Amino acid sequence: MDNRGKFTSNFGFIMAAVGSAVGLGNLWAFPYKLGANGGFAFLLIYIIMIFLVGFILIIAELAIGRKTKLNPVGAFRALNKKFAFAGWFGIVAAFLILSFYSVLGGWSIKYFFTYIMDIFGKGFGDLSGEAFFNNFISDPVQPLIFTAMFIGIIFFISIAGVEKGIEKSAKIMMPMLFFILVIVIIRSVTLPNAMEGIKFIFKPDFSFLSNGKFGEVIAAALSQMFFSLSLGMGAMITYGSYLKKDANIEKNAILIPLFDTLIAVMAAIAIMPAVFSFNLDPAAGPGLLFVVLREVFASIPFGDIFGAAFFLLVIFAAVTSGVSLLEVVSSYFIDEKKFSRKKSASIVCSTCFALGIPVSLGFGLLKDVKLPQLNGVFVNILDFYDYVGEYVLMTLGAFILCIVVAYVIKPKTIVMEVEANGNVFKSKKYWCFMMKFITPLLVLLTFLTATGILNFQLIL
Ligand code: PHE
Repeated sequence: MDNRGKFTSNFGFIMAAVGSAVGLGNLWAFPYKLGANGGFAFLLIYIIMIFLVGFILIIAELAIGRKTKLNPVGAFRALNKKFAFAGWFGIVAAFLILSFYSVLGGWSIKYFFTYIMDIFGKGFGDLSGEAFFNNFISDPVQPLIFTAMFIGIIFFISIAGVEKGIEKSAKIMMPMLFFILVIVIIRSVTLPNAMEGIKFIFKPDFSFLSNGKFGEVIAAALSQMFFSLSLGMGAMITYGSYLKKDANIEKNAILIPLFDTLIAVMAAIAIMPAVFSFNLDPAAGPGLLFVVLREVFASIPFGDIFGAAFFLLVIFAAVTSGVSLLEVVSSYFIDEKKFSRKKSASIVCSTCFALGIPVSLGFGLLKDVKLPQLNGVFVNILDFYDYVGEYVLMTLGAFILCIVVAYVIKPKTIVMEVEANGNVFKSKKYWCFMMKFITPLLVLLTFLTATGILNFQLIL
């Protein structure tokens, strides 16, 4: 048990859990989806989905973790032997997501250093944002060195333990992330034409209510929410397993999505006005952060300093999420195989690095390799990992979690855990009703649409 550890304060837990939630998903997926799916209308639907699905699942995951004090595989097994496989989905998802996350985290580290060097005139040189980016990601070796650096950072945080590593680093990085974001927002909204960007993200477009796209907007909000809240793959079970008995799970289940959504909206306000101010393409994906923002930073005063600050923020967001992904698998080895923290983290980190090699090469040597999704579309290696981890395993894992909680162990098991230590579970009736009847259906809808089994015109 020595290797397990515990969060020392609820503030520390919140910072770590929000750290897991706030990641690349908030920074480049949310701003674009917000704009493309109806602006303020999408935000409203997103918030409603948090009440119908996110809040319900976070309570379930945290309570399962704290009750069993185990990793996802052990936790599901402790609830019901037949469902240990659901924990395995989480482990595989964590491996896949961490592998591509580390490659992207590595790119962010490279950009951070390049902006710093650019202050001294030695960074991007004469290359355009796009040429620099393409040269870098198609290189067979360089991105892998930065991937290794990213993995090294999360390795050292992890082996320092839950309290001294995960909790402490999140307590430093998350407030700093917030602070940098505020500064970038101030810069962004004071650029000429910034209002266009604000309009793009917030213009309330309710036309989907009448043009038959209602289901699509809901599905887009749901799939974004799953990834953003780190749900359905055991991250919240794992962090819940380090939570003290007197912590108020219900309150935490409100605070985590609140901060996650706040930061996602703030990221949108920080990025989109700048994109519009320079007449650039607001399209989603890595290009937005690495290529488009380069054009912005290249043309404003002190742009390199803002660029370096921005990529520091991206690194903080990616590291705190990466640490939680690593912890899902590490905790499995620690609990089940009785390995030391160091040995567990070493196994996971080296495997993720190995799995990250094809992802990285997928932008150079292996760029012609395309893998199939269930809807018949072929994608590159990174998108394939993302597809299997995020869209297939996380949503399926969440669906099985719903079934286990609602119909196998029954909601009262969770209710008792939330009420442990005399805590009052204010939304108990609402939570039980949703858990049994509404949430599982919405999660099933997410699984079917996100995987492409049910063919909506989704903007994923
Ligand atoms: N929530 C993270 C993001 O928004 C991703 C993540 C998924 C982290 C699953 C941990 C577990 O980028």
